[in-house]
Amino acid sequence: MAGRIPSQFIDQLLDRVDIVDLINSRIPLKKAGKDYQACCPFHDEKTPSFTVSREKQFYHCFGCGAHGTVIGFLMDYENLGFVDAVEELAAQQGIEVPREGGAGQGPDHRPLYGMLEQATRFYQDALRQSPGAPRAVAYLKQRGLSGDIAARYAIGFAPPGFNNLMQRLGDSPEHLEQLWITGLLAESEEGRRYDRFRERIMFPIRNHRGQVIGFGGRLLGDGKPKYLNSPETPLFHKGQELYGLFEARKAVRKLERLLVVEGYMDVVALAQFGIDHCVATLGTATSHEHMERLFRAVPEVVFCFDGDRAGREAAWKALETTLPLMKDGREARFLFLPDGEDPDSLVRKEGSAAFKQRISDATPLSRFLFDKLTGEVDMTSAGGRAQLAEMAKKLLQRLPSGIFRQLLAKQLDERVGVTVVQLDTDLPARPQRRPIGRNRYLGTMPPVRRAIALLVTNPQFACCQSLPEGWEQLPQPGIPLLKELLELLRTQPNLTTVAILERWREREEGRHLGKLTATLLPLGEENMEREFHDTLENLARQASEAEWAALMTKAREGLSEVEKARLRELASEKSERDRQPDNRNE
Ligand code: GTP
Ligand code: MN
Repeated sequence: MAGRIPSQFIDQLLDRVDIVDLINSRIPLKKAGKDYQACCPFHDEKTPSFTVSREKQFYHCFGCGAHGTVIGFLMDYENLGFVDAVEELAAQQGIEVPREGGAGQGPDHRPLYGMLEQATRFYQDALRQSPGAPRAVAYLKQRGLSGDIAARYAIGFAPPGFNNLMQRLGDSPEHLEQLWITGLLAESEEGRRYDRFRERIMFPIRNHRGQVIGFGGRLLGDGKPKYLNSPETPLFHKGQELYGLFEARKAVRKLERLLVVEGYMDVVALAQFGIDHCVATLGTATSHEHMERLFRAVPEVVFCFDGDRAGREAAWKALETTLPLMKDGREARFLFLPDGEDPDSLVRKEGSAAFKQRISDATPLSRFLFDKLTGEVDMTSAGGRAQLAEMAKKLLQRLPSGIFRQLLAKQLDERVGVTVVQLDTDLPARPQRRPIGRNRYLGTMPPVRRAIALLVTNPQFACCQSLPEGWEQLPQPGIPLLKELLELLRTQPNLTTVAILERWREREEGRHLGKLTATLLPLGEENMEREFHDTLENLARQASEAEWAALMTKAREGLSEVEKARLRELASEKSERDRQPDNRNE
């Protein structure tokens, strides 16, 4: 991990991204006044109470209280960590996320990425010039790959020999260590290290930023093992990575679906035929992490499996993994191949148009689910239908709440002939959070909290002329925060509400700030400046009264000269205040 992401970068990113566009690309929003609305993605509801404010760049659900910035939305909606959410937004804007240098942020992996990059180049060069190059090129030609596609996927060749990488790239103990950590070397029982990949076609595996993190290598001929993957390393986790995802995102400007196939060769062969939205898992079953990555990139995933028994079993596993991620707006379908074919062989035999037709005709998840279950029971008997109901109910319970789940429940009812799933009781929505009312809360908020809320939602108030002073000494919990906010906003007057919230994300008070913002979200700005001013004045009064009371107590034991002078000052302020009728009692 590199260093922290600088907060100035987060500020800039928040300025460039529009929360309405981002949410709208996932949940269609309708304009309502100056805000936008939809049914809340975080709880079950029939009338929209999920509100997105373009002006404040903030969302808030009046039903369940969910709220946050565009970064927070991505984190909650897509199950991302903070850093991943920021990277996702930056990638959409085509900008790189800078990192602050500095220790304490975990090891610096840059040298490892550098070494893998060098190895990639070495293998690519070896495809042009090395003892085995002619054979390797002949193999790729025979498998129908053009130089173009080989270049796009940075395909290379690991030449024969046990010492190539060490000789070429391991010119220091440090570099040798990097070769070892990145999994490019293997170790014999005697502890001798040698090139892991030899006489293999090399497929570099890239992460979402395009950095090479590992390799898959295929033998030129028959033999075992046919494919060899990099071992687990600090950069490479086989069960999470998808071969070809980076290349697909790069090749297709607006990626709308991804086809998941089994092999490296399937991905590159399909790309050769102009079907370049394909990815492969690395010889493992489709995992939850895979699915999250896929749905982060596209709303629709098509799985490609053998039509045989093993293929159908793998497909069913993939369906089970996918269920919890089937939020509304997402789609998963299944393409079963004819016996004995894989995507590579089939696209060569049938051509690109026919294969694309197969993708379009792929079986929707719902149909695969019901076909499989109804095939297992006797649908003509009541007992069989009851069995179906039991099995389906278990699966439906794993779906997130939403229209898709309601539709499947309805389909199930139709097949069984009675209502099977009581959506409200059998499939309870996420626990509802306490509803937050609209603006009426402003009046009932204690003044410190009210001042903070008004300031966070209207950062420009920090630079108002002649704000009341004297409240800073008040011994109340929120005062230091209010002070810190005002100081920050005075040095950086252009910070927006959401930029403030992001700066506080990791701090204890951050949650409170978010809630306060949510509460005040629908407020118009009329009179708010006045309100802020009055609140500070009110606090200042409380502060001087508290000080007065403390000095009066102390006066019984005797005051210093300075304290006496201060008491006289306070006394005159107090009588001044008592003469004014506007003495609000809070
Ligand atoms: P080709 O024979 O080159 O067309 O490969 P394929 O992709 O059709 O191979 P296959 O269907 O046999 O395997 C699919 C995927 O499983 C490969 O892309 C590899 O990721 C993985 N795989 C296959 N064989 C091996 C193996 O021997 N070892 C390991 N670790 N993975 C394998
Ligand atoms: Mn194959």
